[in-house]
Amino acid sequence: MSTEKHVSNRTCLKSKLSRFILAIVVLIVIIVAVVPSVVVTTLHKKNSMGPKAKVFVPLYVYPAPEAWAPLENVISAHPDVNFTVVINPGNGPGPDSLPDGNYTREIPKLTAYDNVRVLGYVYTSYGKRNASEVRKDIQTYADWPTNSSDPNLAVRGIFFDETPQQYEAQTLTYLQGLTDFVKGLKALGPDQFVVHNPGAVPDSRYLATADSTVVFEAAYSTFRERQGAKLFSSISDSNRTQLCAIVHSVPESVEGKDLRSLVKQVRKVADEIYITHLSTNYYASFGSKWTEFVDLMAA
Ligand SMILES: *[C@@H]1O[C@H](CO)[C@@H](O)[C@H](O)[C@H]1NC(C)=O
Ligand SMILES: *[C@@H]1O[C@H](CO)[C@@H](O)[C@H](O)[C@H]1NC(C)=O
Ligand SMILES: *[C@@H]1O[C@H](CO)[C@@H](O)[C@H](O)[C@H]1NC(C)=O
Ligand SMILES: *[C@@H]1O[C@H](CO)[C@@H](O)[C@H](O)[C@H]1NC(C)=O
Ligand SMILES: *[C@@H]1O[C@H](CO)[C@@H](O)[C@H](O)[C@H]1NC(C)=O
Repeated sequence: MSTEKHVSNRTCLKSKLSRFILAIVVLIVIIVAVVPSVVVTTLHKKNSMGPKAKVFVPLYVYPAPEAWAPLENVISAHPDVNFTVVINPGNGPGPDSLPDGNYTREIPKLTAYDNVRVLGYVYTSYGKRNASEVRKDIQTYADWPTNSSDPNLAVRGIFFDETPQQYEAQTLTYLQGLTDFVKGLKALGPDQFVVHNPGAVPDSRYLATADSTVVFEAAYSTFRERQGAKLFSSISDSNRTQLCAIVHSVPESVEGKDLRSLVKQVRKVADEIYITHLSTNYYASFGSKWTEFVDLMAA
């Protein structure tokens, strides 16, 4: 190689280098200018309310004619929102093979919707209730469709109330046995969904025995304190899809953008949520901001 060529090569190299640097700078400017605005507008449009969550309804409302209408109205108005609805005819399925005529008329209306999953309430007395009696309650729910000759008089899983928080090996075995029982009943299909309600964050060894666990069932003021103390931070990310949160006693003043912000915060914590402004008999009727809450769940 000649010296001349070396020189021209260097000049060439220099201008190539500067063009290269220029190109990089232009590219960076484009990336910095364009990409975030695209990402931000996409995220903003889709996720300004955070992740989607299901509406969880402890429906301990007696189905007198029209009493469940406020629920049916929001279910049909929001086909894109999923609802998990817990029914409780008599501290469980009740003593008879079928619940009374108001239930047998109203339950099939709910189960007819694609966006509804109805669960049957069963209590466990913190793992101390006789397991064969618990199984009997579960079996009663499972027998409803055949016993009534109505395939829509059916539940798709069980809500176990009063499950324990503290770990005990025999209680874990007890709960796992009940879950296995539910999973084996075809009549509770296709979901055979199992929810536990310890009402607060339980020992994490229990989480895997349920599809979803109610890790918060308390007043708005308590939710505020917990949020401040970041008590949910240990479970909020990895296990969110397995969690349910219920916030009651929300002050009437929490509406509009304050309610929006509350719904957003709770959606961040759990995949199934219920928020009510009722401060007594939280589940015996629908609160004043019921439709506003569901509208925010659809956002
Ligand atoms: C609602 O349910 C449908 C069908 O099971 C599912 O595909 C969808 O992801 C659910 N949406 C939410 C927000 O849970
Ligand atoms: C249904 O509910 C109404 C109103 O509470 C009540 O009068 C009626 O007796 C109930 N019907 C049955 C079959 O229980
Ligand atoms: C549990 O209930 C079954 C049937 O109701 C009964 O036979 C059994 O003795 C009970 N077990 C205990 C420990 O009470
Ligand atoms: C309904 O349940 C009752 C009580 O468990 C039982 O005696 C009856 O045979 C059942 N009927 C049908 C059609 O399964
Ligand atoms: C998440 O759930 C699994 C069981 O499903 C459990 O083993 C794990 O400890 C949980 N993670 C946290 C952080 O609690």
